[in-house]
Amino acid sequence: MRNWQLLGETAIPGSKESLRLYRGKDDFFIKITSVSGELMSTRKFGSEVALGSLPCRRIKNRDSARVLIGGLGMGFTLAAALKELGAGARVTVAELIPAVVEWNRGPLGERCGNPLKDPRTRVHTGDVHKLLQKSEREFDVIAMDVDNGPEGLTVKGNDKLYSSPGILTAQRALKPGGILAYWSAGPDPDFHDRLRQCGLMVEETRVFAHGKKGARHTIWIATLD
Ligand SMILES: C[S@@+](CC[C@H](N)C(=O)[O-])C[C@H]1O[C@@H](n2cnc3c(N)ncnc32)[C@H](O)[C@@H]1O
Repeated sequence: MRNWQLLGETAIPGSKESLRLYRGKDDFFIKITSVSGELMSTRKFGSEVALGSLPCRRIKNRDSARVLIGGLGMGFTLAAALKELGAGARVTVAELIPAVVEWNRGPLGERCGNPLKDPRTRVHTGDVHKLLQKSEREFDVIAMDVDNGPEGLTVKGNDKLYSSPGILTAQRALKPGGILAYWSAGPDPDFHDRLRQCGLMVEETRVFAHGKKGARHTIWIATLD
């Protein structure tokens, strides 16, 4: 953290921790106060890009595609989804923490081409779970990256998104033929099984965090039979 400049700090809802945005020499970093290492950075984003591009590539020819992204973070998933989609698409990004949206409207957003300024983007500031509960047959793709994955949650209460009722809620928010995509820092056989038990066909992919070597993250693409 030497030479990191603190640009912003905000409380994490339902937690005693805060989220901090730093600028390093060439990159931005978001960190949870008491956790060593970074939660997100503009240095490593290969799997965040894949979470947006893999499912949206499959619906690129659908007119007026509707996509929901759970968790804005540093905007890489949003930018990757927009890149795959046509002019008639709408991509809603749900972000729990208002400061994260504000940070992305500043210099952080320039790192992935300012996807919040894209006219196809809609921002929902709030809990993606609540938005899903109000949605029925609305989305062609729902791409979820709100935490470290089904395990190792940093926001208390996000476990419901990865539970069977949470998966079924997301499923109900999909249009027929829609796709659910989930990001995780690592494999999770129990979550894979839960997706299948909810009646979904599941493809599990390991994607490099950065470049073509090193750590890999897990992405599940789930569709109805
Ligand atoms: C790991 S980051 C997402 C990274 C993102 N995929 C990217 O491309 O940079 C997780 C984000 O989800 C947000 N978040 C956490 N829980 C949420 C919830 N229940 N609803 C909406 N957003 C949430 C966090 O504030 C954080 O910005």
